[in-house]
Amino acid sequence: MTRRGFVTSSVATLAASTFTREALASSPNPATAGGPFRVIIDTDPGVDDALALLLAMRSPELKIEAITAVAGNVPLELTLPNALRMVEIAGRTDLPVAAGAKAPLVRRLVTAAYAHGENGLGGAVFPEPKIKPVSEPAAQFIQQLVRRYPGEVTLITIGPLTNVATALNSDPELAAMVKSLVMMGGSLSGGNITPAAEFNVYVDPEAARIVFQSGIPITMVGLDVTRKTSLTEDHVRLLEAAQNPVSQAAAKIARNALNHNREQGFLVGPNMHDSLAVAGFLDPSLLKWKQYYVDVETVGELTAGETLGYSPNAGDLRRDAGMEKQVGVTMRIRGSAPTLGSTRTSPVLRDKFVPNSNVAADVDSARFFDLLIGRLSGKQ
Ligand code: BDR
Ligand code: CA
Repeated sequence: MTRRGFVTSSVATLAASTFTREALASSPNPATAGGPFRVIIDTDPGVDDALALLLAMRSPELKIEAITAVAGNVPLELTLPNALRMVEIAGRTDLPVAAGAKAPLVRRLVTAAYAHGENGLGGAVFPEPKIKPVSEPAAQFIQQLVRRYPGEVTLITIGPLTNVATALNSDPELAAMVKSLVMMGGSLSGGNITPAAEFNVYVDPEAARIVFQSGIPITMVGLDVTRKTSLTEDHVRLLEAAQNPVSQAAAKIARNALNHNREQGFLVGPNMHDSLAVAGFLDPSLLKWKQYYVDVETVGELTAGETLGYSPNAGDLRRDAGMEKQVGVTMRIRGSAPTLGSTRTSPVLRDKFVPNSNVAADVDSARFFDLLIGRLSGKQ
């Protein structure tokens, strides 16, 4: 579907508060039919990234064109070798891996070693990778691949959006050639690194804003759903019981991450944020969807990295469907109210409400874990 088609179908489905099968089928991003689908996975491994990469590499629906590493959970000096390690473990050394940004566009890097351990894999140790990254930097590699397959490539981003924003900045025509972008990132219900912001968007809010405003049809799998995917002892046992290299590696990372979480005083296991984004692409019926215009706060002293979801049917007081549709056509997207001291009026960010994102609103966690554990253990 073209971007114009996405916008048209988005407006047409405004009346529905949750996505029907038909609406979902008309959305641009999920792998509802056909395949395999060309994807590039941009990642900052990361415990949940590592499992998400293994899941993706065990999924025949995906034609992985590249894996691109970015600084995030830990510095690039660790995320890059961790990505290479996952490729070796999965026996997929045919896949090119590219090194990406060492730092966000305009900010200093904030990492999440407190959640992922100093090595990014919860302390699970694997040998140094033997394979090397390709010579092209990630942003350039993304640009080349999207241009090679215009309209075919879905970007699955499970880290800060620095690499993708850099690619978009360097090539103004690129966004129109990207089929869709599925991200683990953002939240419409509070953050994890601050009360307002989800980690991936917090680390590079300027990059996230570029992506949300790019016109690429976006699927946002945020904390609203990923915080319902906590890994349990039972999941880890199932992985440990399966005798194959992927399952054993996943079990090792998962066991270490579980222990790390306990040592940090967390009462539940780590959430499988990034695997849910991959799974949501593989099987969109695992999630319920709502359409929003999503924008990113970049200047707030307390709220930078917050994602805001505008929707004519997101308020407390519901209107009838016809009225919601009408409001959907006339609604303005506004920023903050004007201050007394300035002549500035309340900024109108968009004259009309046009959704730019399919946002995951609920998840069937049990079915998600069946898929994740089933594929990692080789049973599906
Ligand atoms: C996201 O941040 C990272 O810590 C995880 O890998 C995930 O991508 C969750 O907020
Ligand atoms: Ca990640």
